[in-house]
Amino acid sequence: MENYDFNRVVERRGSLSVKYNPEAITSICNNPDAKPFWVADMDFAAPPAVLEALQQQVDHGILGYPRFPHLKETIGTWLEQRHGWHVDHSLIATAPGMLSSIATLVELYTKEGEGVIVPMPAYKPFVTIVESLGRELIPWPMHYDGKGRFSLDFELLNHLLEKTQAPLLIFCSPHNPTGRVFSLDELRQLIEACATFRVTIISDEIHSDLSFPQVTHIPLGMVAEGSGVECATCVAPSKTFNIAGQHFSSVVCSSSAMYRKLTERMEALRIGPDILATVAASAAYSGGYEWLMSLNRYLSRQADNITKQLAKENNGLLFVTPEASFIGLIDCSAIYERVALDAKNNSELYNPKLSPQGGLLSRFFGQRGAIAMNDGSWFGKGWEPFVRFNFATTQERVEEALKAITAAVENLN
Ligand SMILES: Cc1ncc(COP(=O)(O)O)c(C=O)c1O
Repeated sequence: MENYDFNRVVERRGSLSVKYNPEAITSICNNPDAKPFWVADMDFAAPPAVLEALQQQVDHGILGYPRFPHLKETIGTWLEQRHGWHVDHSLIATAPGMLSSIATLVELYTKEGEGVIVPMPAYKPFVTIVESLGRELIPWPMHYDGKGRFSLDFELLNHLLEKTQAPLLIFCSPHNPTGRVFSLDELRQLIEACATFRVTIISDEIHSDLSFPQVTHIPLGMVAEGSGVECATCVAPSKTFNIAGQHFSSVVCSSSAMYRKLTERMEALRIGPDILATVAASAAYSGGYEWLMSLNRYLSRQADNITKQLAKENNGLLFVTPEASFIGLIDCSAIYERVALDAKNNSELYNPKLSPQGGLLSRFFGQRGAIAMNDGSWFGKGWEPFVRFNFATTQERVEEALKAITAAVENLN
């Protein structure tokens, strides 16, 4: 018997949610009424421990400049409890959103014009950070077997490292959007390649606490220990406890030199987390473990059900079953040509000017099924035949969405 009910509906329409905002939904599929299965936050209330701590702070009435005496111990204790990683607390730097520290690290560890390797498909902000800071994006395409499984191509990585002499790699583990939780063998190969070519790694592990019960996430910083590779392991409670609107994250630095370099820069730019975000993070790490275990069982079951349901429909859609978190790619290669034909015959529905953040498939599912999902093109060139489905909502809503997706495909000529 679970103590937490993830099937309770919390009305989000009309709240300050981007995921439920009609204009934002329109921007990807030109249908404001499409049901939202996109932006990566969950439809579940945060753990009671978090809400109580926030309430207490608000009830106090003063939100002045804070100082949290045991914050790093709290983060360290969490990393040990959740991932069996014993870290030196003096190497933990805190930040607001994870992207703020990733951008700062990109600036610190590369010069303008230098290359940054990013596995593809990629969470788009990695690409925009690299490019907007005037660095060169070096895509490292993952291998896709056409049957729902992505893997890292180390031969290609070694080739890219040798050819480009890129000083930095942005890793994402577990991987958004493929949902891969990497094995120790894969992580060791990554560290070995980066040690050979003296490459620094930023490892975005924002989804790591959400790895499913049957798999083990291994922090890259733990594997890098003793290798000589400089590794910034970025973690956060934001996806884990559904508090992404309260920006708080941490970077576990592999050396005191990295810690100094990063914190000096963050201090110079006055980048730091706010009081309520820190209250929420601290309460989540201290009192959210049981909630999270329950959530992970729930999400893992949802992922299984989606895989089975789409396989049963046998209509060409294939779920790339994630091993962590609440987002998964649906491989739509088998219907892509037919959707392209539908778009050709109904150009107004698919008009890119009316949904500039979308692509062919997000427009198709938005228009023909009233379901809003992220288009594969958002994750890079070549991934157009995929959409990303966010299933962190009630089982009933997920089932309804699958019915709508199936009906849209069945109605295609
Ligand atoms: C892999 C990854 N990194 C970073 C972020 C965003 O992090 P933040 O909001 O803390 O900057 C997301 C949000 O979806 C994500 O999926």
